[in-house]
Amino acid sequence: MQELTLTKPDDWHLHLRDGAALASVVAHSARQFARAIVMPNLQPPVTTVAAALAYRDRILSALPEGANFDPLMTLYLTESTPIAEVEKAAGHAFIQAFKLYPAGATTHSDAGVAKLERIYPLLEAMEKQDVPLLVHGESIAREIDIFDREKAFIDAELDTIIRRFPALRVVFEHATTRDAVQFVRAAGPLVAATLTAQHLLYNRNSLLAGGIRPHFYCLPVLKREIHRQALLEAATSGEAKFFLGTDSAPHPQSGKESACGCAGCYTAHAAIELYAEAFESVGKLENLERFASFNGPRFYRLPVNAEKITLQKTPSEIPARFPFGEEWLIPLRAGESLVWKLMAN
Ligand code: NCD
Ligand code: ZN
Repeated sequence: MQELTLTKPDDWHLHLRDGAALASVVAHSARQFARAIVMPNLQPPVTTVAAALAYRDRILSALPEGANFDPLMTLYLTESTPIAEVEKAAGHAFIQAFKLYPAGATTHSDAGVAKLERIYPLLEAMEKQDVPLLVHGESIAREIDIFDREKAFIDAELDTIIRRFPALRVVFEHATTRDAVQFVRAAGPLVAATLTAQHLLYNRNSLLAGGIRPHFYCLPVLKREIHRQALLEAATSGEAKFFLGTDSAPHPQSGKESACGCAGCYTAHAAIELYAEAFESVGKLENLERFASFNGPRFYRLPVNAEKITLQKTPSEIPARFPFGEEWLIPLRAGESLVWKLMAN
């Protein structure tokens, strides 16, 4: 196949940051996606409807002239989120979900939840109001090996949440293991997962073999090949439970190339192209549209986009870096080539 036209996709998991950083990256997402679920892990985190609406306005103001991009907002769950905030969010057209960060699990998650039992009343309210829960599914127990934290979270926490709140809609964000795929498949239709491009294309060798490559470091960390294959099989299966969420997470070059580098891969510059490459690698390009454009809206109960995009099999080069406020941003696969190219409309 040399050309592929599909319904305009959405990104169901995106970090846009704020201020000058936001202004530097938002056009990359708007170029290919009609909508994005915007993560609330700013500093301070976006914990209220009012803060989310103000953030939404800042995103809209940062968009280039004429861009058509709808930011779908989320709220950051804390142990002290009032039940009333859940009720307020449930009724609001611009707010889609709550994000659960186990405290300290990842970038800007310090204000997250240390003990899940403490938020049971909030989960109950979300279940009742039918507000989806988006989960960063990694255990925060220090003694657990970093490669096992996803499975540990599923076994010790997520399983309990799903049994206790059976009518709660849950997205297992950025699933990275075969265990997560199996768990999501076995759970009912209200449980889904997003998958990133980097976890479909790379395993942990890309991060660690032959030198440490900080721009491949994200959380949950890249896993071994058997997991990558399970994720790729799930993404390309066409099943409604799996949909696109880039987890594109920009950090300045200085924060990544450091003795203690930040977690986050930047993929928004070429997300749909990278996913197309992953799907083509297993001969499943025909299922890209379901994964990228149909399954997400179905889960979130939103209409499918009317516009189309076209990808052409034309080699192009990924820039070595992008401006990022006063700093630089190094994209995934900087300076290397891309197989698919998104054509201008
Ligand atoms: C994200 C970030 O930088 O905000 N980092 C990452 O490695 N994915 C946070 C997150 O989604 O875990
Ligand atoms: Zn994320």
